[in-house]
Amino acid sequence: MTTTTAAPPGPGTTTDDPLAGSADVWLLAEEDVPRFAEATGGLDLLTDEERARHDRLLFPAARTRFLGARLLSRQVLSQYADVPPAEWRFDKGKFGRPSIHQADWGLDFNITHTNGLIAAIVVRGRTAGVDAENTPARPEALKFAPKVFTPLEQEVLRRDREQGHAFADSWVAKEAYTKATGMGMARGFDAFSVHRLRGGGLAVVDDEIPEPERPLWQIQVLQVWDRFALGIAIRATEHDEGPVPVRLRSAMAELLPAHAAEPAR
Ligand SMILES: CC(C)(COP(=O)(O)OP(=O)(O)OC[C@H]1O[C@@H](n2cnc3c(N)ncnc32)[C@H](O)[C@@H]1OP(=O)(O)O)[C@@H](O)C(=O)NCCC(=O)NCCS
Repeated sequence: MTTTTAAPPGPGTTTDDPLAGSADVWLLAEEDVPRFAEATGGLDLLTDEERARHDRLLFPAARTRFLGARLLSRQVLSQYADVPPAEWRFDKGKFGRPSIHQADWGLDFNITHTNGLIAAIVVRGRTAGVDAENTPARPEALKFAPKVFTPLEQEVLRRDREQGHAFADSWVAKEAYTKATGMGMARGFDAFSVHRLRGGGLAVVDDEIPEPERPLWQIQVLQVWDRFALGIAIRATEHDEGPVPVRLRSAMAELLPAHAAEPAR
């Protein structure tokens, strides 16, 4: 069955715009991808190129996550613009960051998929990145710390009583930031740092951000479903007064009709 979601307000709508004062992060559990796909059109919604990429993936789990990420981003974007899910087309930046082809709607989005979770962040007029990892990080992962954290970050990590969670939190925060900038891992992760602020919250310290832009960056790490660390980076605008609130939303509960969202009995 194919479901299309209700048409949202178009560009230029300000008071009705659900993204006027916030960012939405949509979550889809990997185990729900088959039902999500069945209810939203599945592979038929993908372009030929996307289907070819899907078919080239060797592992079923990688295919599931790839399909889930494609469908989630299409369904989610159609919540905020009068474009049917199948009609979105995407471009890629120099380092592979997807963006909307002919970005008339002022929307920016980013996706992440990890073992068990797919997430998509969407903002309007701002820029955002998202990254998810299982938490706590496995002990083997900790040996990568010297490659991805500054000496000070490594020391903070060493002194943390919950190193596995601290590693995952720092990692997703840094990766979300580089995904918002579009560089991804092409940027040396030890060239900038993310620090905890005394009153809670995080701040990115990066000499490459021009001075006037620094206060616009906001970094958060949320714990999702007890086993994922979700890093979110948003570059706000000069018009934003303070941090942009982030709403976590459920793809299964909010994008599908109730009967499709229930597991088959
Ligand atoms: C982006 C990157 C950090 C993602 O790492 P990851 O933890 O394995 O994957 P995630 O699940 O968090 O994110 C993957 C998604 O991020 C998006 N993405 C890809 N490159 C991106 C970039 N440079 N910036 C932001 N987002 C990017 C894509 O949607 C991708 O999903 P897809 O592969 O299903 O299309 C990593 O792939 C990277 O650094 N890529 C850039 C490498 C590079 O320099 N390429 C140059 C030639 S294109």
